[in-house]
Amino acid sequence: MQNIEHAATLLREGKLVAFPTETVYGLGADATNERAVAEIYAAKGRPQFNPLIIHFADIASAKQRVVWNAHAEKLARAFWPGPLTIVLPRAKTCDISLLAGAGLETLAVRVPAHPLAQALLNATHVPLAAPSANRSGRVSPTLAAHVHEELHDKVAMILDGGPCEVGLESTVVDATGARVKVLRPGSVTPDMLCEALLENVELAYGEAAGEADAPASPGMLLQHYAPGLPVRLHAQEVRAGEALIAFGAAVPAGAERVINLSERGDLTEAAANLFASMRALDLPAYSGIAVMPIPEEGLGAAINDRLKRAAAK
Ligand code: TXA
Ligand code: MG
Repeated sequence: MQNIEHAATLLREGKLVAFPTETVYGLGADATNERAVAEIYAAKGRPQFNPLIIHFADIASAKQRVVWNAHAEKLARAFWPGPLTIVLPRAKTCDISLLAGAGLETLAVRVPAHPLAQALLNATHVPLAAPSANRSGRVSPTLAAHVHEELHDKVAMILDGGPCEVGLESTVVDATGARVKVLRPGSVTPDMLCEALLENVELAYGEAAGEADAPASPGMLLQHYAPGLPVRLHAQEVRAGEALIAFGAAVPAGAERVINLSERGDLTEAAANLFASMRALDLPAYSGIAVMPIPEEGLGAAINDRLKRAAAK
């Protein structure tokens, strides 16, 4: 736990610390310190208008910063700590950096479940603003080594918690209105949300939101999770020079290299492997990355959402 104490000290001094969450690695800064938050945008090379998720140790600390409501209560009870982010109006007395919220009237809040994230939040005693710890427009890191590759010269410390269990960023919901809207799909699926809320949710991402014209959530730029190589989706066969991201047991032949997201066709396993696979195959040696079809059910919707972004040019 020595590491955690040191990381907490660095964060309180306004420095950046990358840390693991159950979803992906985060690039953390003291969310109440404008300068530290500005460092996040600088390190990522992220457009200033893209607001950050604020991480809290527990429900009570999150509640203090936002205008809480009945939907938020049900969602927090059902899914926190865990991979769900809730967008709510900022409280009048909110001490979170305005820059972290990109000047919006709302704030995206979440209580992560990863034991190292929990230990860090408890040791730091401040909420942490943390986007995924990648450079802007690149795929999210699911290993400490990924963070090191892209940001080692920008962070004071990288806490290594091994591979992230979920492997996809948190589900983001907007709970400011009469009906809860899903802004970003993730491992907490619409069905799970409906079950906790006992009512329907609206899907406000992808085609449902007419995203080709205007992204619903400021961070949901269509081309967001982008490897350098062209990405070809729903591949039934392999073309010359391509590397293949496979799914399931029936894999077409002829790829320069194959990474199988899940041989047994398990979507949870596939989600956890997705970003690391894109990184591993994003090499000039290949002409492109072909991706086999992924079923749209359950976690598949979130996987396909990320794949569509990776393929957008
Ligand atoms: O799993 C995760 O959520 C990871 C880990 C580190 O917690 N974090 C993450 O952060 O993915 P980031 O910054 O890469 O994505 C934040 C998403 C973006 O799509 C952003 O637009 C949206 O949350 N967001 C943040 N604040 C918002 C707000 N006030 N209204 C609507 N969307 C918001
Ligand atoms: Mg991100």
